Amino acid sequence: MTATGQHLRTAAAAGPAAVRVVDAVKVYGRGDTEVRALDGVSVDFPVGRFTAVMGPSGSGKSTLMHCAAGLDTLTSGAALLGDTDLATLDDRRLTLLRRDRIGFVFQAFNLLPTLTVAENITLPSALAGRPVDQEHVDRIVDTVGLRDRLHHRPGELSGGQQQRVAVARA
Ligand SMILES: Nc1ncnc2c1ncn2[C@@H]1O[C@H](COP(=O)(O)OP(=O)(O)OP(=O)(O)O)[C@@H](O)[C@H]1O
Ligand SMILES: [Mg+2]
Repeated sequence: MTATGQHLRTAAAAGPAAVRVVDAVKVYGRGDTEVRALDGVSVDFPVGRFTAVMGPSGSGKSTLMHCAAGLDTLTSGAALLGDTDLATLDDRRLTLLRRDRIGFVFQAFNLLPTLTVAENITLPSALAGRPVDQEHVDRIVDTVGLRDRLHHRPGELSGGQQQRVAVARA
């Protein structure tokens, strides 16, 4: 299955775009195992709106998200965050952009197994060397209902609880 304008449907854009993807092509592998996961996808994700990307399993949704968030690169086409074309950034600037401007809940949650829930949630601040706003963190922890699991490790949590840790971290 390949993501095209027909398979990948998104809300019509209105107003400025937070993220813009233009003529995106993503090819994994080569030869017999080549997979064309994105085949000319263009989409705007408007500021201040929730956008749902829908499509069958394997149609390229995660690929689109990874490329739009600077976690993977496109084979051709462009991904822009605001006015920033991600292809123009070197590894270091891409890392900073991901840390400071993007929150991402992975399909597989990518929590660090050796850290507690509390440490996983505050990891981006710790990496940035920024002080943690404990009041803000407390509000988030209560919102996602993880108060009684803060000192557990991800392996001791249910799937939904792990997902909520990933939401809190983002
Ligand atoms: N690293 C990779 N190497 C080769 N093929 C890949 C790789 N990652 C994804 N694919 C293939 O690219 C296509 C798109 O995968 P993707 O993960 O973007 O789908 P998805 O829409 O997120 O699916 P799901 O709903 O199952 O999560 C699939 O056919 C998949 O097998
Ligand atoms: Mg996916």
